[in-house]
Amino acid sequence: MTRILLLLACLCSPYAKALSPAFVGTSKGAFDCSFKASYPRSYKVLKTDKPAPGTGDYNDEFWAQVPWTEDFVDITGNASLTPRFKTAVKIVYDDEYLYFLGKLEEPQVWATLTTDNCVIFNDNDFEIFINPDATTHNYKEIELNAFAHVWDLALNVPYGDGGYENSTRVMDPGFDMLQPSTVATWPTVKSGVTVFPESCINDPSTAPNEGWGVEVRLSLEGIIYNTTSSMPEQGDFWRLDFSRVEWRVLVNETSGEYYKDPAYPNEDNWVWQEIGVVAMHNPDKWGIIQFGGIIGEDDNSVDLYEEWPARQMAMMIYYAEHSFAGANNGTYTTDIQELTKYSPIEGALSSGCGDISVTLPKGGGFVGETTYGGFTALVREDRQLTLK
Ligand SMILES: *[C@@H]1O[C@H](CO)[C@@H](O)[C@H](O)[C@H]1NC(C)=O
Ligand SMILES: *[C@@H]1O[C@H](CO)[C@@H](O)[C@H](O)[C@H]1NC(C)=O
Ligand SMILES: *[C@@H]1O[C@H](CO)[C@@H](O)[C@H](O)[C@H]1NC(C)=O
Ligand SMILES: *[C@@H]1O[C@H](CO)[C@@H](O)[C@H](O)[C@H]1NC(C)=O
Ligand SMILES: *[C@@H]1O[C@H](CO)[C@@H](O)[C@H](O)[C@H]1NC(C)=O
Repeated sequence: MTRILLLLACLCSPYAKALSPAFVGTSKGAFDCSFKASYPRSYKVLKTDKPAPGTGDYNDEFWAQVPWTEDFVDITGNASLTPRFKTAVKIVYDDEYLYFLGKLEEPQVWATLTTDNCVIFNDNDFEIFINPDATTHNYKEIELNAFAHVWDLALNVPYGDGGYENSTRVMDPGFDMLQPSTVATWPTVKSGVTVFPESCINDPSTAPNEGWGVEVRLSLEGIIYNTTSSMPEQGDFWRLDFSRVEWRVLVNETSGEYYKDPAYPNEDNWVWQEIGVVAMHNPDKWGIIQFGGIIGEDDNSVDLYEEWPARQMAMMIYYAEHSFAGANNGTYTTDIQELTKYSPIEGALSSGCGDISVTLPKGGGFVGETTYGGFTALVREDRQLTLK
């Protein structure tokens, strides 16, 4: 099933970006070693010389010169599941912060949660996932509802690979960018929401509403905390994705309040870069951002992420080993020939695109290694993906 979904995701992936010539002539037989078909959406983050207003007002002059991302799609990548409402984002940075603006079309602006660091996705929300060093480990997640309440957490390892949430919601001391920190001195998160029309939140009599704009300012130091990344410089690439959780609500005619529609117990998940499955915690599938120059001086074209083929090839080993283990009582294999049968993208592991090897350390797990395009990528059973 995973294999089918993944293939589907690749076929549906919109890939309309101008690419550097590095992608030309990299085929081995029928297989495209550039992994162009699964190359994620990318965005150039331009630098600002003044701070973003932080109000969530997407009509504010400040944001006029900053380009939008593409509109969000369904997390599965299934093109028939077009999101009911549009979502897009703008991002800028300066020496201290990343600033995000989300624009969420929403005919029924609704929120219930009135504190920070609770499970914000129980409301309709806007979510940011950031993995600066692209290791798939030690990434940060930030969620906001229409009351501008924030849940920020750090994941040491993706949940599916044995990781856990570190936040003040579940532990003390917990990772938190909202409070002056006990572990570092980064500046705190600032968030703001503007609803359109004014005061429409939780007021069905104003529906249909235009929607809400959400801004959040995140400390770069807080985001790179506990990663191998340093403060971003022009040209650097990070992995990042956005998600929007959307519940259907009905109007209680007695109280005049919104409530969750019990006929839809599952939420919709709309994202910038599709994942292929309903699970955001697959950092290897997220989009790519590249840090650029000053707004007005630099254009918004993103360079090719040249590590992509080597990283993708390593992830082929990761997924194949886990599928192999599923069929072989939890064991991994060093037999590459055998492993090729489990390649999530058909033909990838037998393509000859990269040299592949797997070792099985005494303590358990596996280490897959591949070299392609001048990069050597290593992947572990817990998904940790590094370049040598
Ligand atoms: C895509 O979504 C449509 C509409 O819900 C559904 O009928 C179809 O089975 C889905 N396709 C896949 C491959 O899941
Ligand atoms: C920092 O990284 C270490 C090692 O990966 C991990 O054990 C720890 O949980 C991480 N801390 C946070 C806040 O993510
Ligand atoms: C959680 O994060 C805090 C702050 O970074 C750190 O001090 C603590 O050791 C982490 N706890 C665990 C269990 O990872
Ligand atoms: C509708 O509101 C009334 C009055 O507040 C309440 O008693 C009732 O349980 C609500 N119904 C639903 C379905 O939420
Ligand atoms: C499967 O693995 C378990 C635990 O590692 C072991 O006890 C069991 O004998 C294995 N079964 C087979 C059929 O190899």
